[in-house]
This record gives sequence, C-alpha cells and structure tokens, in this order.
Amino acid sequence: MKVLGIVTSPRKGGNTEILVSEVLASAQEAGADTELLLLRDKKMQPCDGCRTCHKTNACHIKDDMQDVYPKLEAADAIVLGTPVYFWTVTAQCKAFMDRTYCYHINRRLRGKVGAGVIATRRAGATQAFSVINNFFNLHRMLAAGGVFGYGEERGEVRQDAQALGECKALGRVVVRYVKMASAGLLAPAPRPG
Ligand SMILES: Cc1cc2nc3c(=O)[nH]c(=O)nc-3n(C[C@H](O)[C@H](O)[C@H](O)COP(=O)(O)O)c2cc1C
Repeated sequence: MKVLGIVTSPRKGGNTEILVSEVLASAQEAGADTELLLLRDKKMQPCDGCRTCHKTNACHIKDDMQDVYPKLEAADAIVLGTPVYFWTVTAQCKAFMDRTYCYHINRRLRGKVGAGVIATRRAGATQAFSVINNFFNLHRMLAAGGVFGYGEERGEVRQDAQALGECKALGRVVVRYVKMASAGLLAPAPRPG
C-alpha cells in the first residue's frame, strides 16, 4: 500500500510539511509505504486550458508535473497539504489540482483515498479544506477527512498538540480506508454518464 503526501507550501520545513510528515509517519506505522513530495522543488506551470487531454488522456505541458503523474497513479492514497493563503489554498496547490484535469475525464484517480491537511495562522481553514475535498470528490476519490493545524511562524504548529494527535489518527484512518476499499467495503461514487 502506497500513501503519497504532497506539500504545496513554498516554505521549507514549514507547518504544512510538518503536519503531512506526521500523517505519513502514522500511516507508515500502520503498515503503508510512504513518500513525501515537496512541490516547491518542482517547476510546474498552470493548466493552459487547451483541453487536448480530453483526447489524449495526457497533459502536453512538459515540466516537472510529468514526474508527478506516475506517483499519483501508483498511490493508493494521497494526502494533500496546503497552507491557507488568503482564505484558500496556495497557487501551487491550485496549479497542481488543475494539472490533474487529464485524469478527470476518465476519473483515473477514482477509488483512491484522499485526505486534506491545512496549516493556517487563524482563518480560512474550512475554505481551503472544502477546495481540497471538492477536488477529491470530483475525481471520485474516497475522502477520508483531514487535519487543521494552527501556527504562523515556521514550525509553530508543533505547539498545536491537538493537530499533531489528529495527524496520527488521520494516518491510521487513511490506511484503514485503503484496506476497506480494496476489500470492497468502501466504493467511490460511480463515473458520471
Ligand atoms: C501569502 C500568505 C497569505 C496568508 N493568508 C492567510 C489567511 O488568509 N489566513 C490565515 O489565517 N493565515 C494566512 N497566512 C498564514 C499562513 O497560513 C500560516 O503562516 C501557515 O502556517 C503557513 O504554513 P507553511 O509554514 O506550511 O507555509 C498567509 C500567509 C501567506 C504567506
């Protein structure tokens, strides 16, 4: 079982990275293979809306997102983390989500488990979380919940004991969801049409 954690904060060693790493550590303890992907290390253009992916099932933009696609395909679960920027997800997170449009037409992420991780100073976590949950739902993924962690400065979220506890619980839930899905006990919504 593979759990892929994706951090869309541009800040090295930041709060989102800490929270997603905690979720992955817990998933690993529960038996998963895990990988942490830091999008700040990737050069990624936004979707250009060409819609050729609707014919080809692939994105024509040749940048580092091409290295990310195989990781998404291999993952049983995706833990997507973002800080709150102006009450929503980061531009990096949105660019990542838009670049998965090539998977949307055939719902090729359908049935994978998704969990959202939000780091915020104070406000906007529910808005960012709903953006991520909508992303999971539109891909017909299985949304397993999420964590909100509070802090402004780099590393401040380590003082949010409740969030760290919730990360541990989320890692276990993600593994349980993957097991239930592979046993046929959880099924995603059908493809439209
Ligand atoms: C451009 C920008 C916009 C932000 N907007 C918000 C906001 O709307 N609400 C809030 O509570 N915090 C906001 N913050 C604070 C970050 O969400 C907070 O510092 C978070 O912990 C950063 O996570 P990171 O360390 O993973 O980057 C903003 C920070 C930046 C840099």
